[in-house]
Amino acid sequence: MKTYQQYKEILSGKSFPYACLDMDLLKENIRINLVRAKNKKIRIASKSIRIPELMKFILASDDKFNGIMAYHGKEAVYLTQLGFDDILLGYPVVDKTILVEIGEEIKKGKYICLMLDSKAHLDIIESVGKSIGVKFPICLDIDMSQDYPGVHFGVWRSSIVDEHSLEEVFKAITQLEFVQLDGLMGYEAQIAGIGDKVKGNGLKNNVISLLKNRSVPKIKAWREKVLDKVKEYGFTLKFFNGGGTGSMETTIQEEGITEVTVGSGFFCSHLFDYYSNFTLYPSLFYAIQIVRKPKPNIYTCHGGGFTASGGVEKTKAPILYLPEGGKFDANEGVGEVQTPVFFEKNNIDLQIGDPIYLRHAKAGELCERFNEVLIIDDGKLKTETFKTYRGLGLNFG
Ligand SMILES: Cc1ncc(COP(=O)(O)O)c(C=O)c1O
Repeated sequence: MKTYQQYKEILSGKSFPYACLDMDLLKENIRINLVRAKNKKIRIASKSIRIPELMKFILASDDKFNGIMAYHGKEAVYLTQLGFDDILLGYPVVDKTILVEIGEEIKKGKYICLMLDSKAHLDIIESVGKSIGVKFPICLDIDMSQDYPGVHFGVWRSSIVDEHSLEEVFKAITQLEFVQLDGLMGYEAQIAGIGDKVKGNGLKNNVISLLKNRSVPKIKAWREKVLDKVKEYGFTLKFFNGGGTGSMETTIQEEGITEVTVGSGFFCSHLFDYYSNFTLYPSLFYAIQIVRKPKPNIYTCHGGGFTASGGVEKTKAPILYLPEGGKFDANEGVGEVQTPVFFEKNNIDLQIGDPIYLRHAKAGELCERFNEVLIIDDGKLKTETFKTYRGLGLNFG
């Protein structure tokens, strides 16, 4: 980890605001995630990176990295045209125009596997497949959430929630000509996406820990049952994808799982500071500039307010990264164009023009705010930068 002073020196002269990737920390995160994955392959979640060159770098860094989990059909097409192969769509595509574009890539020999969870999805895909003469590889998203009194522990995504709904989709697949069942995905969002040592959460952390512990064996039993059904129906799978950055330790315990997904685990946005099962390093951060000093201990910066998606909670705001010890104003927070940062009167002496470094709550969303990301490697600022999707003129929603 580098200090405020070190980053300030390395990045001196750069115009504000800027995003910066510390490759020294990113490489450490790659190493940690490889160790965590043990003998499972790792699929890279593009939504949590949104920089094609960096995804290429990670894929090339170790054989255990295999394929991309894309978040939009157009993105999948873009990535295959850029030379990426083995793309799994993490979410359903029901836009027929985009399905045709995906089909054309498949015709050229590219592998794009569609995600789905219902007969309605199958009908749309089959009709497009028939119209252009393409057999689409498909993956079924199996719901991994659980219900406890008063709590839906998980997400609302897939309609495959039990054996009955699973068999309905299996039966439908056996009747179709233009789909090929290649994979399954069971994303246990309640383990992967919720921290259990969130600052200030007190007892809520214990409740989450308890629910997570209860949830894990149930997830395993359900995924095993799904695999029994796969055998019963005579399907031959290429992969069973599970988990995310937050759940690797438990996901990899299951024999049936062939690959885990990791996205946020590369940048380690600040929501990933709050897990008891691993420690990663904040490799991506951004800088705003102090432009005024309304009082000696208050430093007001230009810009800053990149709040993350999802339920509106305090944790979705960026956090102050460096220098340490500052606080946002309770009323203004991280502002649209002005962000006051408070320090105790005598513990720091910052000047107009100095940087303040912040971290975003979610990994990939910061890249929607910047065209490029500066790169520090081996302690030095590189002359080249990484272009984000935004910088490449792309926006996948
Ligand atoms: C389907 C799916 N798999 C895996 C992940 C994990 O991604 P990350 O490692 O960025 O948390 C997500 C995140 O939302 C997801 O939606």
